Amino acid sequence: MSSAPEAAAEHIIIRVRDLRKTYHVGDVDVHALRGVDLDVPRGEFLAVIGPSGSGKSTFFHILGGLAPPTSGEVLIDGSDLRRMSDANRTEMRQRKIGFVFQKYNLLPTLTARDNIAIAQALGRTNSWPTGFDDVLQFLSIKNRLDHKPRALSGGEQQRVAIARALVNQPAILLADEPTGNLDTENSNAVLEILRNLNKRTGQTILMITHNPEAAAFADRIVSMRDGKLHAMQD
Ligand SMILES: Nc1ncnc2c1ncn2[C@@H]1O[C@H](COP(=O)(O)OP(=O)(O)O)[C@@H](O)[C@H]1O
Ligand SMILES: [Mg+2]
Repeated sequence: MSSAPEAAAEHIIIRVRDLRKTYHVGDVDVHALRGVDLDVPRGEFLAVIGPSGSGKSTFFHILGGLAPPTSGEVLIDGSDLRRMSDANRTEMRQRKIGFVFQKYNLLPTLTARDNIAIAQALGRTNSWPTGFDDVLQFLSIKNRLDHKPRALSGGEQQRVAIARALVNQPAILLADEPTGNLDTENSNAVLEILRNLNKRTGQTILMITHNPEAAAFADRIVSMRDGKLHAMQD
């Protein structure tokens, strides 16, 4: 979490400085983020660990351009989120960032294939990218695509959600408790997938978890406590 020298700046795909977020709930101010600094080198698999309510999801929502910070700087691939128009921020999110959530967030009335296709339409690309069949193979969901979410197991739904997150070939994958609803076997499958994806494609992955065993799959672990990030000592 030290400052990167300018010469190394192009290797830093996510740069965060003194990020703060305060929610106003009635008369109460909730300080969810209290000055977060972070540099993520391109291609890193980073785990963010920390107790419930420590600000992890708030942090990811801001990184992904889903919510504005109260103050502070976020550079995604060199672009300052604050200087983008709403339209540019939306485009950045749809093209550069893939999200995976604890509860999969698949649309229940659509097949797995159409859930993926919708994300792709939002990213404004026409056909599934080259090599995407390999991704589906790798996720072991090729023969599950014509099913709706309710006909899929939790592990399968999460793997469809990962495919959806990958269809626009984002530079960054943000996964918020991706194994939080899964049993050990399915958790390990999802974690292996993230680990291998990161190795194969060099994709940058940030994963929130409160499980130290899940965090151990990452290259580096940072911990969030009371709205601040700390390096993990091992
Ligand atoms: N939309 C919101 N409005 C008000 N308070 C919120 C909102 N989202 C989160 N919070 C509060 O901000 C703090 C951090 O929440 P969150 O980022 O969800 O933490 P975590 O993901 O680590 O559990 C908590 O106190 C939570 O209650
Ligand atoms: Mg959370």
